[in-house]
Amino acid sequence: GVPKFVKIVEVGPRDGLQNEKNNVPTSVKVELIRKLVSCGLPVVEVTGFVSPKWVPQLSDAKDVMQAVKNLEGARLPVLTPNLTGFEAAIASGAKEVAVFASASESFSKANINCSIEESLVRYRAVTSAAKKLSIPVRGSMLPIMSLTKNLLDFGLILVRVGYISCVVGCPVEGAISPSKVAYLAKELHDMGCFEISLGDTIGVATPGTVIPMLEAVMAVVPVEKLAVHFHDTYGQSLPNILVSLQMGVCTVDSSVSGLGGCPYAKGATGNVATEDVVYMLNGLGVKTNVDLAKLLQAGEFISKHLGRQSSSKAAIALTRV
Ligand code: HMG
Ligand code: MG
Repeated sequence: GVPKFVKIVEVGPRDGLQNEKNNVPTSVKVELIRKLVSCGLPVVEVTGFVSPKWVPQLSDAKDVMQAVKNLEGARLPVLTPNLTGFEAAIASGAKEVAVFASASESFSKANINCSIEESLVRYRAVTSAAKKLSIPVRGSMLPIMSLTKNLLDFGLILVRVGYISCVVGCPVEGAISPSKVAYLAKELHDMGCFEISLGDTIGVATPGTVIPMLEAVMAVVPVEKLAVHFHDTYGQSLPNILVSLQMGVCTVDSSVSGLGGCPYAKGATGNVATEDVVYMLNGLGVKTNVDLAKLLQAGEFISKHLGRQSSSKAAIALTRV
């Protein structure tokens, strides 16, 4: 069986746009986020407070965050690679942040310029800063999973996600062992990330590699806390998502129109398209709360702006006359 409800985490405005060569105006990013929130998506990752030297496209993180911070109806996390980014994010109105580690040493170096262990030290600093900013609810910290929305209303700062990239393969090191991913998942979970997103950054996974990876991670972190994050380089995202759901995962990251690619993973294509995920989940009778017709419009808006056809097969099929 598969879960009755799947939470879709829309990462298009961040993961999708970060690799675009031409500067996308802040106003276009803000309009895209507005449209995505209005589709009923429960979580929209809006930007990354990363170094503008490393990812020039996201150098307007502060302006984007300030423009969307009062939008209602969705959680709006941002990427933070270190305390500098965390502080800038909070100052701009972010209530939820995501840290991102890698299961591959080479990719960690290329993406965040430090070793895996150094990144964990940085992320412990971020998670403890987030905890310090939290306000206690009725005198004690309540279980975060069930109360996420309420806690956010109280102004609590959450470290939503610890991303792990290269969970089955790395552009430099090749195959990655499930035990490395499990080790990192446990570290991120123990330091206070309430959700761990498992990323196939370069899109090489198949169900054959996803299953053993998930089995190893599920042995150390409860499956309710896991999300899957697939890139569609080899067209394997939907089968990978389906096996993940069958194993009990109920959170899926995706990107409108299949936007994306990683600046430090050459040749990797975009994330699985949100439209394709919603189409499959609708077919399975799984609830998502996402309005597919509105989502198609959001996809059309950004595809038009970027001057290219959507990478979502469902979007292309559904908008054909
Ligand atoms: P660094 O150069 O080693 O940083 O970069 P540093 O600490 O030595 O500082 C150098 C300069 O950067 C200083 O400024 C800092 O203030 C500044 P200067 O004194 O030279 O003027 N700086 C910052 N500025 C803005 N925001 C910050 C920040 N931190 C330092 N947060 C760093 C290290 C981590 C900052 C850099 O490597 C970086 O920003 N990397 C992020 C790269 C990125 O965003 N990659 C894509 C996202 S990950 C991904 O896509 C995978 C995922 O989707 C999952 C999947 O698909 O698997 C999540
Ligand atoms: Mg990604």
